[in-house]
Amino acid sequence: MLQALSRFAALSLLLSRAAANLNLPSDPVCEDIKDAVSTSSAVFYPGTLEYSKGVFHYISSSSDSSNCVVEPGTAADVGVILGILGQTKTKFGVKGGGHASNPGFSSTPGVQIYMGRFSSVVYNQASQTAEIGAGLIWDDVYAALEPHGVNVVGGRVSGVGVAGFTLGGGYSWKSNQYGLTIDTVTAYELVKPDGTVTTVTPSDEDLFFALKGGFNNFGIVTKFTLKTFPQTQVWGGVMTIPFTEHSKVSAATANFAANVTDPKASIITTFNAVAGVGQIAEMLLFYDAPTPPDGIFNNFTSIPALQTDVKTRSFISLVQASPSNVTTGQRGRFNTVSLQEITPQILDVITDEFLAKSTSLLLGTGTFVSYDIEPFLSSAYGQSASTSAYPSTRGSTILPLNLYFAWLLPTSDSVFHDAIKESASTIAAAAITQGQNAVSSNVVYPNYATWDTPLEKVYGANLPRLEAIKASVDPQNIMGLAGGFKF
Ligand SMILES: Cc1cc2nc3c(=O)[nH]c(=O)nc-3n(C[C@H](O)[C@H](O)[C@H](O)COP(=O)(O)OP(=O)(O)OC[C@H]3O[C@@H](n4cnc5c(N)ncnc54)[C@H](O)[C@@H]3O)c2cc1C
Ligand SMILES: *[C@@H]1O[C@H](CO)[C@@H](O)[C@H](O)[C@H]1NC(C)=O
Ligand SMILES: *[C@@H]1O[C@H](CO)[C@@H](O)[C@H](O)[C@H]1NC(C)=O
Ligand SMILES: *[C@@H]1O[C@H](CO)[C@@H](O)[C@H](O)[C@H]1NC(C)=O
Repeated sequence: MLQALSRFAALSLLLSRAAANLNLPSDPVCEDIKDAVSTSSAVFYPGTLEYSKGVFHYISSSSDSSNCVVEPGTAADVGVILGILGQTKTKFGVKGGGHASNPGFSSTPGVQIYMGRFSSVVYNQASQTAEIGAGLIWDDVYAALEPHGVNVVGGRVSGVGVAGFTLGGGYSWKSNQYGLTIDTVTAYELVKPDGTVTTVTPSDEDLFFALKGGFNNFGIVTKFTLKTFPQTQVWGGVMTIPFTEHSKVSAATANFAANVTDPKASIITTFNAVAGVGQIAEMLLFYDAPTPPDGIFNNFTSIPALQTDVKTRSFISLVQASPSNVTTGQRGRFNTVSLQEITPQILDVITDEFLAKSTSLLLGTGTFVSYDIEPFLSSAYGQSASTSAYPSTRGSTILPLNLYFAWLLPTSDSVFHDAIKESASTIAAAAITQGQNAVSSNVVYPNYATWDTPLEKVYGANLPRLEAIKASVDPQNIMGLAGGFKF
């Protein structure tokens, strides 16, 4: 018996030496995690499909090579994982839908936490809310709620994650009616940096405020409870318009922004340039009913289009009609300007910037240059005092202009980063010159801002309060081991 045991010991020693010689990927912290978590969770090393999925981002420059991918399956396991990462001071990343536009915000050279196993949607008819797992993308949420005839205030195009979108703010097709996504959250299931699992509701004033725009600074969210609203069929879709018609597009956009007050109506006007294809205008039209009232969208639908897909349809079909995956896997950057008004004059400036940047950048390794104009009603997020980390004031709605550049080579990163910074500054300066005084003091949308935007510009007067909450919830700065805008 003893002999058999020692033979077994010798054999396993031999086998583990063989494994070491084969150089199978292994990492002491990842192994600690593997040993400590329940069977609901798993650890994956490079060379596996699960690893590749775990580190993947929509924008490839937002990805990193990590020591391993951890897929937690329970909130308690998330707590165990945070405990090990904190003790060993290991860098980590927390990824939901992986649509971050900034490098290092949801990726890491250390331990990549991928939340994909938090994937359930539970509709509660009595409370008119839905509990939504932090690993989902909005498409899956809409599909799960559709049979109940209800919906939530979420993403506008296909593929975007619930978690980062909701923890940053959330501009939706339904924001003119119900506010930002954060305005519809009734509870967060949060794993705090000390590993405890808690439910954050309005009675926890500080954390409830801080999680509305504060991303991963206060722990890892495993579940969001969002208000639901009745959902009928909707009207809308995408119009692809030759760029030669851009003055009609701009005039109709300015008119819509100035004169349409129906909260069910929403648009995104986009100027896109695609390498090898050229410049186009794209209109995304939305009305939250099967048919819009006469006239609201006529100035758009009367523009001669190359292609149009505007019709009565399900909400999810409208979301998935947007060609949001043309640049999947390319390098990229977002930037933003918080406009006060969408006027004909600022649209001229944006058009000139689009022409200049698309002409110069696509001559290099650029593949895509896009300027997205997003009008919202000035009342979209209410006039009440600030109740959220973002936006720091609740006066007239900030209109987030979205700039998006994509390219192929890592060696071009700084060229495109500098160009997107410069372009946003040019537009902001012009808006101020034109009398949009609020642009200089408006905070910027953290889900669109570049990583090097000063924290005061993102969180404004809320910054000291957010820093105080952070210090009390995370005195050891465990969440500082993950990237992002950090308090
Ligand atoms: C094609 C496209 C379309 C978009 N459309 C819109 C739009 O219509 N409206 C809008 O407002 N924004 C839009 N965005 C921006 C979008 O809101 C952000 O990219 C958002 O952060 C994506 O969330 P995610 O979960 O996919 O990102 P991720 O990259 O997974 O995460 C983003 C950030 O959230 C943190 N995080 C993720 N999960 C958790 C968690 N469980 N707990 C704590 N922190 C976490 C990450 O650490 C990271 O800092 C769009 C972006 C893209 C690329
Ligand atoms: C748009 O529509 C409105 C109302 O139907 C109209 O008054 C206006 O002249 C139209 N044209 C433009 C370019 O906005
Ligand atoms: C808004 O409508 C009014 C009245 O029809 C019109 O005079 C004005 O030009 C419109 N605004 C814009 C920006 O088109
Ligand atoms: C984009 O999505 C469409 C529809 O799902 C698919 O056919 C196409 O291959 C995708 N393109 C890329 C680049 O991922």
